[in-house]
Amino acid sequence: MSKPTMRYRLGDREVNRLGYGAMQLAGPGVFGPVKDEARAIQVLRDAIASGVNHIDTSDFYGPHETNRLIKKALHPYPDDLCIVTKVGARRDEKGGWLPAFSPEELTQAVEDNLHNLGLDVIPVVNLRSMFNVHHPQEGSLERELETLIKLKDRGLIQHIGLSHVTAKQIADAQKMTPIVCVQNMYNLANRQDDALIDELAAQGIAYVPFFPLGGFSPLQSEQLNDIATELQATPMQVALAWLLKRSPNILLIPGTSSPQHLQENLASEQLILSDEVMERLNQVSA
Ligand SMILES: NC(=O)c1ccc[n+]([C@@H]2O[C@H](COP(=O)([O-])OP(=O)(O)OC[C@H]3O[C@@H](n4cnc5c(N)ncnc54)[C@H](OP(=O)(O)O)[C@@H]3O)[C@@H](O)[C@H]2O)c1
Repeated sequence: MSKPTMRYRLGDREVNRLGYGAMQLAGPGVFGPVKDEARAIQVLRDAIASGVNHIDTSDFYGPHETNRLIKKALHPYPDDLCIVTKVGARRDEKGGWLPAFSPEELTQAVEDNLHNLGLDVIPVVNLRSMFNVHHPQEGSLERELETLIKLKDRGLIQHIGLSHVTAKQIADAQKMTPIVCVQNMYNLANRQDDALIDELAAQGIAYVPFFPLGGFSPLQSEQLNDIATELQATPMQVALAWLLKRSPNILLIPGTSSPQHLQENLASEQLILSDEVMERLNQVSA
């Protein structure tokens, strides 16, 4: 097993830049219980044994299922484990994603996360904007942040982050409270946040791309495949290595339900990309 060595600040601690995203541990469509619980528990325990100390989750994965699984597999948690969750959505009876932005819903979501994860305080809670499910959209998050700040003041949340947001929403939020991380969609083929990543890096704020491997539509590119073959690596490893080199403030949370893929993903830290390869990979999104 390869142990991660690159680190970056997340709130009041440093975490390994290779973390783990737990969304794939719910049932199909991130709905219902996991298909193979023993395998999912193995993935979580392997991740910790391999040095992962940053896990991304949400109580709306399942709903509740993923957090309960994390608790079953890992509680009592290692001291250095940073669990990051998100609030702002709920699921309907068919698994659809609905906004859950009222003060009551946000408070309930934080309490549910605490209960299902077995925590007294959540290290980081991301407020997930839901103005548009598919892309970040302008709109005020003031009322929602006020609720999270109250929960932080009550000691239920340690740090606040944002997800699926615009640069303006981040700047507005920073006038109200420190923002320790931003989680937006970004990968080799979806680079709308290029400028934002550099801006956050200058401020020392972590950027955590979701769908680092393309999410529900895994990255597919002939150029990526060719480069992976040249480097004797897999395309997914190259995609993760590209993110690691893209900016030091990028923290990775690739999601997998496979112990083998987990190890493959963690090993991407050993893959050093030359400037020439980076340049060729930069053309993938062009
Ligand atoms: N803030 C938000 O709105 C938001 C939205 C989506 C996700 N997220 C977070 O971001 C995390 C990552 O996103 P994600 O899991 O949806 O997408 P992802 O990491 O881009 O990709 C996951 C997919 O890639 C496959 N995969 C993983 N490693 C692989 C490998 N080495 N080789 C081949 N296939 C591989 C997985 O299948 P296998 O299970 O077969 O490996 C899965 O189908 C989630 O876990 C979640 O915590 C946040």
